[in-house]
Amino acid sequence: MSTPDSATAREKLLVGLTPEMRLNLRIRAAERGVDIQDAAAHALALWYDTPNVPAVDTGGAKSWGVFLPAGGPARFEEEAKRRTLTKVQAMGQAVTNWLNLHPSPTQRLVSQPVKRILVALQKGGVGKSFLAAGVAQAFAEMGLRVLLIDYDPQGHMTRRMGYQSLSADNDNSLLQHMLGKARKHIRRILIKVEGERFGGRLDLLPACTDAFLFDAVMSSVRHGREETLQRALEPIENDYDVVVIDGPPSLGLSMDIAMHYVHRREGELAERSGIVMPVWADTPSFEAYDLFNGQRHDLMRGTRVQIDELGFVINHFDTRRGASPQRKKEEWEERAAPGVLAVFGDLKEQREATDEHTPLFEYQPNCELTDGLRGLAKELAA
Ligand SMILES: Nc1ncnc2c1ncn2[C@@H]1O[C@H](COP(=O)(O)OP(=O)(O)O)[C@@H](O)[C@H]1O
Ligand SMILES: [Mg+2]
Repeated sequence: MSTPDSATAREKLLVGLTPEMRLNLRIRAAERGVDIQDAAAHALALWYDTPNVPAVDTGGAKSWGVFLPAGGPARFEEEAKRRTLTKVQAMGQAVTNWLNLHPSPTQRLVSQPVKRILVALQKGGVGKSFLAAGVAQAFAEMGLRVLLIDYDPQGHMTRRMGYQSLSADNDNSLLQHMLGKARKHIRRILIKVEGERFGGRLDLLPACTDAFLFDAVMSSVRHGREETLQRALEPIENDYDVVVIDGPPSLGLSMDIAMHYVHRREGELAERSGIVMPVWADTPSFEAYDLFNGQRHDLMRGTRVQIDELGFVINHFDTRRGASPQRKKEEWEERAAPGVLAVFGDLKEQREATDEHTPLFEYQPNCELTDGLRGLAKELAA
């Protein structure tokens, strides 16, 4: 069946292939930047090395010509015979095997889990709630569907967005869902944040005062404690493109569970989900971060997962306080990893929005802070 092709020193193999396999091979080769003839040759090389390739359906196969390196067609025919397969079946197996081993880059992105971002550092007042609410609003404005979780029992963020925390006698709180005790669907706790620019895409899971007892209650859970947040959110995760968590103000169990929630899941790209750490350009922030990072490492060792840091955000940056903030800012920037994502000054718009109990993007959509938050959201969404 082979004819010499002197121009390319390749030989033509004529074999049947289904139109679907042929199309997939052409598209996948193009997506991966390889020539279709080379993809076919590679598929055969892999097939020769794989003794047990499953049978495939070759119904509707049509004649297809492919140029293989010299000797290729003869080798193929020999191997098909040895495996007592028809040539159509042999080529079908080789192509299908290659397609499975070389997934489409677009398919890989589509199958990624919801992006999960924890905004955290145990130090109070660094700007966790500001940042979590701010990037969530920027994501929603960009067109992403966002779940914003107030994971701090104090409920500052919930109140600042203009809503109320759930009371402790509520039987449908996040903690109740984490314990598997809630009776209603978790969707019923969610509040759709009003605002034209959010387009109904921003949902808030408000704080509940029962979370003050979080660590005490959780310490009695023996099995699968780390997975409790993931289990609670599973029924709604697919409704969102991104989940943003306003982290807890301490380094207890609640922090472990939040950190674990953003660990890199199987098949998830590196540094897609993870932790963003707001810090100040001052010494206490470095000390706080060292403790925080120690806990992250302990948790990774204990649970054998990877928890990625996405970056620092320097907040309340004010050069009027002398040369020290500038030096400390450089110190954050000089760290090899994870890098500084953004720098925010201490600006009146955030303080005013806080006092007005209005989301910043509704209170003052065009200011230095919202611009910075949009840039940050774009970077984190990439
Ligand atoms: N860049 C900023 N400019 C002005 N005020 C800010 C800024 N970041 C945070 N704040 C205000 O500082 C206070 C503490 O910030 P917050 O986000 O609540 O910190 P945390 O959640 O870490 O305790 C809040 O009143 C908040 O509105
Ligand atoms: Mg807070």
